[in-house]
Amino acid sequence: MNILKFDSEAKLNETAARIITSTVQVNPSAVLGLATGGTPIGIYKQLVQDYKEGLVSFKNVSTYNLDEYVGLSPDHHQSYSYYMNENLFKHVDVDASRTHIPSGLADNLDEECRQYDERIQAAGRVDIQLLGLGHNGHIGFNEPAEELSSSTHVVNLAAETKQANARFFTENEEVPGQAITMGVGTILKAKMLMLVVKGADKAEIVKRALTGPITTQCPASLLQTHPQLVVLVDEAAGSLLR
Ligand code: PGA
Repeated sequence: MNILKFDSEAKLNETAARIITSTVQVNPSAVLGLATGGTPIGIYKQLVQDYKEGLVSFKNVSTYNLDEYVGLSPDHHQSYSYYMNENLFKHVDVDASRTHIPSGLADNLDEECRQYDERIQAAGRVDIQLLGLGHNGHIGFNEPAEELSSSTHVVNLAAETKQANARFFTENEEVPGQAITMGVGTILKAKMLMLVVKGADKAEIVKRALTGPITTQCPASLLQTHPQLVVLVDEAAGSLLR
């Protein structure tokens, strides 16, 4: 595990974007595992800038997102399809047919999950998987539990996750209670993992995830078992790490 600590958010975003950009420069048909939430927005901005400056093309890249809310259509302003379009896809030359996000509107959600894993497998290995970290140690939407699912599955969101994400929804809207998420097995199969964490409110959980016991009660702790994990934290999130 390589932990990189940054004294400015701009430097963190630049470095994270550079790691993704160089993955694509080396392999223009790279398979990228992408994440949503507040954390990666600055990274996507930097990727768009890299693209505009001609440093990278996403033309032959395939993308697979970690998760999607159940019940939200792709044009809902809080769906992760909408997020990806707004923050990255519509600003770069990625081929829409090679971008993949589970459908939270599928009639048969279990079948959608099964097919999503099949599509990832057919693409070969995810070259680099971007990850944020929930306050409760979730990755994707794999919430702390007695047992974790290895493959893509439907999950009931923890109350604290709904609360944390309520900030993105308008007052009259309810955060969906369920989501489809890649499982921890799917995530851990990626060749390289890049965990990005920002903010003092995540300092405790960063410490627990990276230095505490490996336990399903802190799904991110399983990342410790991955041979190629790079962690990018700002000073605040990394303040309890030595
Ligand atoms: P955030 O979410 O980037 O919005 O803090 C991270 C997560 O819950 O995985």
